[in-house]
Amino acid sequence: MKKNTENTIEVTRIPLELRRQIILDSIDQLDPGQSIKLINDHVSEPLRRLIDREKKGMYLWKVLKDGPDLWEIKITKKRIEDYSLSELVKIFPASAHLFESKGIDYFVNSGRNIVEVCERIRCDRDQLWDEIQIISKSPNAYARFHTWNSAFVIDYILENHHTYVADKLPQISLLIKYLDDVHGSAAPYLTHLKNEFLVFQEDLEAHIKEEEEIVFPELRRYIKGEAKDEDVQNSLIWMEEDHILTGSSTRKIRSICNNYIPGEDDLPGVILLYKDLKEFEADLHFHIYLENNVLFTSIQKSKKN
Ligand SMILES: [Fe+2]
Ligand SMILES: [Fe+2]
Repeated sequence: MKKNTENTIEVTRIPLELRRQIILDSIDQLDPGQSIKLINDHVSEPLRRLIDREKKGMYLWKVLKDGPDLWEIKITKKRIEDYSLSELVKIFPASAHLFESKGIDYFVNSGRNIVEVCERIRCDRDQLWDEIQIISKSPNAYARFHTWNSAFVIDYILENHHTYVADKLPQISLLIKYLDDVHGSAAPYLTHLKNEFLVFQEDLEAHIKEEEEIVFPELRRYIKGEAKDEDVQNSLIWMEEDHILTGSSTRKIRSICNNYIPGEDDLPGVILLYKDLKEFEADLHFHIYLENNVLFTSIQKSKKN
């Protein structure tokens, strides 16, 4: 990992295929108002667009040195006072519910600065900021998924969770391999983790392939009355059993990684990895929850009807 204690990343020293992930992960870890400096050998417009797209305007971008051989970019995580009301709702949709509960009329004059609004209604802005962060970390906190119909749940799982797994799983695997290649001899648990993760990756990819190619199309046919009860029941039993195995794999990975709690001497790369693994696990848990508890329940209901 090429990040030092001064929060500087020398981009050209990171393997090309890991740059995007390491930079995005590093800026994620900044506290509001904190910055990171990138040193690069070319102008980074695609990176700027990537950050804008992935992080939805949560960061400020400032060119400190503009070539000709070296570019230095300062990326700063915005503080609450850097946002307008409309930006906050756009970036943190759940904040609309919080504003509603506090009587902040976010739906009119939403270009107002949040600091003015807090002063007017005598609301502590730091406390409000903490509440926005907490509420936004709760995925789908306000989605009424138990009322969704089966076809919609399948679409949601495919578009949201399967896409996330397809994107994130190879990235994490590559990061583990990189860390093991560079630091495995001094930290043998990385080799153990790499081997365990490879098995987990293979199993999860096979599970998802089976869902996408066999189970979900069968469920869609069932919803239309074109598949047999016993076939669907067998598929649901298979999926639930496989989810139990997935759960035991994630527990194994978590225990190799000290419950994703970094030690004082852990490398910055390991800290990033733990953060990625923790997020991945949380997404996978919700993904499985939707399949076991929401999708299967709505399929059972459609059987009774
Ligand atoms: Fe799935
Ligand atoms: Fe599944």
